[in-house]
Formats: sequence, C-alpha cells, structure tokens
Amino acid sequence: MLAVRLLHVLGMALVLGGATLTWWLFRQDAASDSAAVRTAVAYERGFWAAIGVLVMTGVGNLGSLAPYVPTVETRWGTVFAAKLLLVLTVLALSLVRTLVVHRYRRAEATEGSGQETDTLRVAYGATALSLATVVALAEVLAHG
Ligand code: HEM
Repeated sequence: MLAVRLLHVLGMALVLGGATLTWWLFRQDAASDSAAVRTAVAYERGFWAAIGVLVMTGVGNLGSLAPYVPTVETRWGTVFAAKLLLVLTVLALSLVRTLVVHRYRRAEATEGSGQETDTLRVAYGATALSLATVVALAEVLAHG
C-alpha cells in the first residue's frame, strides 16, 4: 500500500503548498492581484482534483488497516475522528471559497475592482492553516 500512501502525501503537498502560495500572492501589493486571482482559479481546480485523490486514498489507507481500526474511545480513534471532522469542515468552507473566487474573477473582468482580495487572502490563509492542522493530526495517526 506504499503507492496509496505516497499518493495521499502528494495530494496533501499539492493542497497545502498551493494554498500557501496563493495566500502569499494575495499578500503582495495590488498590482499583482490579477496574478494572484489567476493562481487562485488554477488552485481551485487542482484543489478539488487533489481532494478527490485524498479521499479515495484515505479510504484506501483505512482499508489497509481494516480489521485493526481502533474504536473512537482510543487515542488513535479520537485523533482520527478529529481529523475527519476538520477535513469535512475544510471541504464545506472550500465550496464557498471556490464560489467566491469565480464570482471575483467575473467581477474583475467587468469592473476591475480590488476590494474582495482581502477576503480571498484571509480565505487562503485559513485554508493553509487548517490543512497544516490536518497534517499534524495525520502525523500523530501514522507515527504516534
Ligand atoms: C476522507 C478523507 C481522509 C481519510 C479517510 C484519511 C485517512 C487516513 C489514514 C487512515 C491514514 C493512515 C494513518 C495510519 O497509518 O495510522 C492517513 C494518513 C495521512 N493523511 Fe489522511 N485521510 C483523509 C484526508 C486527508 C487530507 C485532506 C490530508 C491533508 C491535508 C491528509 C493527510 C495525511 C497525512 C500527511 C498522512 C500521514 C501519511 C504518512 O506519514 O504515511 N489526509 N490518512
């Protein structure tokens, strides 16, 4: 199951690295906004593709542990439940983030406004931080 674990880690690198890069681009001055918005649009595509891979390989990881998956009362079980809850929260909020990015891109094409980039900067910062927390929880699961 090494390949499945590798894919899981590569997916993680893409969603976390991409969110951090996009957040950083939105922190640069307004002149680079359109570069940030273009990166954001590309990130949203990559994000949903990578999440698909993460969920499938995550279920695969779980399958390889199958008869021995600890119950929620154990420490592993509690950490795993926390990881899944956080992943679900990130997914729900990411749906909103994707919609905001696309709305912003349309507005930028017609009016060229710059006011929502603050929202997007915070959104990418929050995405990166939450994903880093998911990774921290996942490392406790995998390596104690
Ligand atoms: C439904 C979604 C997911 C499920 C069911 C899932 C499940 C799992 C399982 C069962 C493991 C193995 C733990 C062990 O070997 O004891 C694991 C490891 C891991 N997961 Fe997930 N995961 C999911 C989503 C994610 C996401 C979104 C991320 C990143 C943001 C992530 C990052 C990791 C990392 C970094 C590891 C450790 C890999 C290693 O060191 O070998 N997972 N996951």
